[in-house]
Amino acid sequence: MTERIVTMLDQATIAKRVAELGAQITAEYKDRHLVVIIILKGSFVFAADLTRAIDLPLRVDFLGVRSYGEGTESSGVVQITQDLSRPIADEDVLIVEDIVDTGLTIAHLMDLLRTRQPRSVKVCSLLHKPARARVVVPIDYLGFVIEDKFVVGYGLDFAERYRNLPYIGVVERM
Ligand code: IMP
Repeated sequence: MTERIVTMLDQATIAKRVAELGAQITAEYKDRHLVVIIILKGSFVFAADLTRAIDLPLRVDFLGVRSYGEGTESSGVVQITQDLSRPIADEDVLIVEDIVDTGLTIAHLMDLLRTRQPRSVKVCSLLHKPARARVVVPIDYLGFVIEDKFVVGYGLDFAERYRNLPYIGVVERM
């Protein structure tokens, strides 16, 4: 079986929306110091662009999670593969996620991070698939709502492939 990727969101569309999100975050946090928590691995491309669109003093940290196996269904079990490098007590935290699908990953991460007593926790996700939501999670900054299709590219993978595509597309098997 061969695969082809059908474009869902092209580079220019993504770049425009990321710039808007950066401007919105900059305006809303106005002069506050941010801790941007980048959820690995899927958010690394989005976060690289988003952080450069935020004009605030900030530091970045990384949290590695695994919620999928090799397939396309969330297991609902969130495994931490890499923890933050520093405490976040009394900090304004912005979680950067690639996609909120069932919502289980973000819900779990918010519970985990709140135990560390940050001053605030907000979520920025590039994509959201509301059709598959199993828990309601607040997404404070959202790039795009998408239909229920498995997407790859711009950091998102299918069995670790396609993360390097500069656009977001749907895998079609022929
Ligand atoms: P959730 O826990 O179901 O919300 O899933 C969150 C994680 O599953 C995301 O951070 C992605 O890593 C992965 N994921 C969910 N949907 C997709 C998709 O369409 N393509 C690639 N990864 C996805």
